[in-house]
Amino acid sequence: MPKVTKKIKATEAQKKDSSSKNKILKDVSRTLGTKDILANDFNNLEAVKNDLSDFFKRYGFSQLETPIMEKAEMFKNNFRRDVSKELYEITSDKGEKLALRSELTQGIIRAFMDHNLNETMPQPVRLFSLGPVFRQEKLQSSRYRQFTQINAEIFGENKPVAEAFLIYTMATLCEDWGLDIEVQINSLGKSECQKEYRNKLISYYKERGNRSKICNECRKNLTKDPMALLDCTEKECLNLAEGAPQIVDFLNEESREYFQKLVEYLDELGIKYNFNPRLVRGLNYYNDTVFEFWPLADNGQPQYKYALGGGGRYDRLVEKISGQEISGVGMALGLERIVYKLKDKNLILFPQPENLIFLAQLSERAKLKSIQIFEELRKEGFNVRNSFVASSLKKQLEEAKQLQTRICLILGKKELTDDTILLRDMDSGMQEIIPQKKLIKELQKKLN
Ligand code: HAM
Repeated sequence: MPKVTKKIKATEAQKKDSSSKNKILKDVSRTLGTKDILANDFNNLEAVKNDLSDFFKRYGFSQLETPIMEKAEMFKNNFRRDVSKELYEITSDKGEKLALRSELTQGIIRAFMDHNLNETMPQPVRLFSLGPVFRQEKLQSSRYRQFTQINAEIFGENKPVAEAFLIYTMATLCEDWGLDIEVQINSLGKSECQKEYRNKLISYYKERGNRSKICNECRKNLTKDPMALLDCTEKECLNLAEGAPQIVDFLNEESREYFQKLVEYLDELGIKYNFNPRLVRGLNYYNDTVFEFWPLADNGQPQYKYALGGGGRYDRLVEKISGQEISGVGMALGLERIVYKLKDKNLILFPQPENLIFLAQLSERAKLKSIQIFEELRKEGFNVRNSFVASSLKKQLEEAKQLQTRICLILGKKELTDDTILLRDMDSGMQEIIPQKKLIKELQKKLN
């Protein structure tokens, strides 16, 4: 009897063990708001990164990489709307309050200051960076909690030529990629213009029962950040924002002239834009210029909810982080959204390698030999692919076809013994046996 009890106990323990194992497996699903990037999307992402990096480098921007974790205070104290809700905060073992960066801008400003780049780099200082950012946002389509941004920031240029350049970069590249966008521009003026405008907005929303027509979130925001109401995408708030006073009527002389100059530059560069008096951006650290890039839907309508990027002038933010009066202007582009749009339009940016050769093998020994041949061909500059694991010729030929290869080389037992290789033209299906010694010459002849 005691033996049986022991056995039963052991079985229960095992059951417990196996149920907890199952539980662990159930927990490894992908985190909400994150995304795996595979195959074509990945290649498009790389192509977009390369095109943008290339553009910035040509115009003297230096690339830098800053840490994903920074001091939380840097984001909290820097005017981002609702930042407390969206920041992923971490407490270090020493009790420091850290955060996963919700933007690249603050880290770039910190690095600019820490490394004294204002003294050591040519003026204006031009920096670009790319990498993941994290925001604890409401889940919606095209809105992730981890996504990739590429940022370009210019320090020490107080003329609108800096903004014009940034807008020009994105507009030109979108044209090259075949993406239709509409550039939105507005001016938020200086702090004093914004102060007067805020008071006017509060009165507008409070008058004639307007307050009762806005969403709960906007009602909460009304007195502390009325400009955020213009950014709300709820239908009732959009309707009311249509009739709201416009900041352009509150700009002082200096800001008016500044904006006028920007518009002249954009005209000279041949960039089409839409003056959007309600564009305030989801961040409140900007002064003067703000801009966004909205993709166009198939019906030609701009999709404001899916902005591909945006930016503006942020002199106050630089001053707040660096303690120095240096002007700053920059933009961030959302790479996942750009790639999504490219896919939606069936646009593929990365070029398929030309003249691809596939190397198939039919035995264990042939597998080893094919690794040597693969290397010889690669060193000669041929584009070679190989399925090192598949054994059946049918499967290997299917893979060669999928890759759209021009030539398939087949190495079987007979070829191994004779030091030959079978060359198959994938278009015509013609096959010929070639001595391995003459393979490179033969391929050069055929692919030329
Ligand atoms: P932002 O408008 O918050 O600006 O973000 C820039 C771009 O990042 C957006 O236009 C969008 O393409 C992408 N993005 C933003 N949030 C998400 C999300 N949840 N999921 C997917 N993509 C998203 C900034 O971040 C400022 N730091 C821009 C800047 C740089 N201003 C001056 N310098």
